[in-house]
Amino acid sequence: MKLRSCIPILVLALTASLTACERPPVEVDQLNYRGLGLETVKNPRRLEDKLEASQIPAALPPVPAVGPKASEIYQNVQVLGDLSAGEFNRIMIAMTQWVSPAQGCTYCHAGENLASDDLYTKVVARRMLQMTRAINGEWTSHVAGTGVTCYTCHRGQAVPAHYWFEDPDADGVRMVGYTAGQNAPAPQAGLASLPSDPFTRFIAARAHDSIRVQGTTALPTGNGTSIKDTEHTYALMMHLSTSLGVNCGYCHNSRSFGPWEASSPQRVTAWHGLGMVRDVNEEYMTSLTDVFPAHRKGPAGDVFKVNCATCHQGLPKPLNGVSMVKDYPNLVGAAPAR
Ligand code: HEC
Ligand code: HEC
Ligand code: HEC
Ligand code: HEC
Repeated sequence: MKLRSCIPILVLALTASLTACERPPVEVDQLNYRGLGLETVKNPRRLEDKLEASQIPAALPPVPAVGPKASEIYQNVQVLGDLSAGEFNRIMIAMTQWVSPAQGCTYCHAGENLASDDLYTKVVARRMLQMTRAINGEWTSHVAGTGVTCYTCHRGQAVPAHYWFEDPDADGVRMVGYTAGQNAPAPQAGLASLPSDPFTRFIAARAHDSIRVQGTTALPTGNGTSIKDTEHTYALMMHLSTSLGVNCGYCHNSRSFGPWEASSPQRVTAWHGLGMVRDVNEEYMTSLTDVFPAHRKGPAGDVFKVNCATCHQGLPKPLNGVSMVKDYPNLVGAAPAR
């Protein structure tokens, strides 16, 4: 074949290889001193889609905290008992709007008797109320005053768009070969060929494996971390980046990923976020294992759990940093005693 007749084929091949790239324009934000590589690459078109998906429903008009308490009027109020009857009903209406707008009150209440706990969804919702209050009251190191409501995760759906469960195949032990849960593009790990379950060992519970892998001394002094451990760290980091829609440089100085003094303040917020997610998963999600029906659990029988994407959904601040909780102070729990 003559060289000239190869050219169209080459051009075609080149065009095909480019389809994996994003269409320009692409913007770069300089986040720190020049030359440090602390930059974030953004695609304005994709950002527009995410902002579109982050519209929030208008706040219900406030209700005064006067009159008899919900605990005095109703029979089975275990969490919101301190609220006035008016405030209580406002939260019920808001919860319906945030979690089950299509199904209405009946998603959690069966029949006439609103005090009955027959539906598992009501039992879950009660625990979720406690969880939301704990996040807003105890985890200000992460959510600041912005806080969260049911809507931050649920967005008008009974099951949030982003959650995770244990991958029973993650260790990859087969009759033939050993994949270590790798070599298949895992969406959880940003479609990289990294371990497909970066969550179980790092964010399922308060007790967790160490994310840190780098040695801190010039000479080898017993850092026994393996390449495989490192791959798990990288898989988790891909999740952090894609959940927030940022590059590694949003938190790290690309010169050296380990040192905190060279990292951005956002990395510290992220560190608190990891602690918060572990707390939420152990205390509030896993404790509901017996409550959830089988079709709401993963193949290993564990409940659906929270990760960074559950709230963030592609943005550095969920709902683009808009605070809904300022209109719902009843959803802020007591701060922990210091
Ligand atoms: C997402 C679940 C959910 C939805 C939807 C929901 N509720 Fe509730 N409801 C609860 C929970 C949980 C409690 C108990 C709260 C507590 O223990 O503090 C409750 C309790 C109540 C009670 C107190 C009953 C008693 O005597 O103990 C009333 C009244 C009530 N809800 C009315 C409503 C109305 C009206 C709607 C629709 C506008 C609604 N709820 C929608 C979860 C829900
Ligand atoms: C941090 C994220 C997050 C927040 C905040 C949150 N939820 Fe959830 N919720 C989840 C996840 C994850 C599930 C698990 C989905 C499943 O297994 O059904 C869930 C499940 C539920 C379910 C069961 C739905 C079903 O069909 O099985 C109900 C009801 C519910 N949440 C109500 C609430 C209410 C009410 C609030 C606010 C008081 C709230 N949630 C706040 C993450 C959250
Ligand atoms: C949203 C902030 C954030 C983003 C984005 C992020 N990281 Fe991290 N990274 C952290 C935090 C927090 C830790 C420390 C976790 C701990 O100490 O438990 C960490 C730890 C690490 C470590 C271990 C450092 C050590 O001391 O051994 C490496 C390596 C790393 N990240 C690489 C990356 C890479 C590569 C990317 C991009 C794919 C990335 N990170 C994106 C927050 C982030
Ligand atoms: C329960 C919901 C929720 C979850 C889950 C969550 N976050 Fe956040 N995060 C927030 C809220 C709310 C803010 C905004 C706080 C503020 O306004 O300063 C935030 C802010 C941040 C910021 C600061 C962004 C900035 O530009 O200042 C980082 C970084 C971050 N989160 C990382 C993470 C990581 C990493 C995870 C997973 C380990 C995570 N978050 C899980 C709710 C959540």
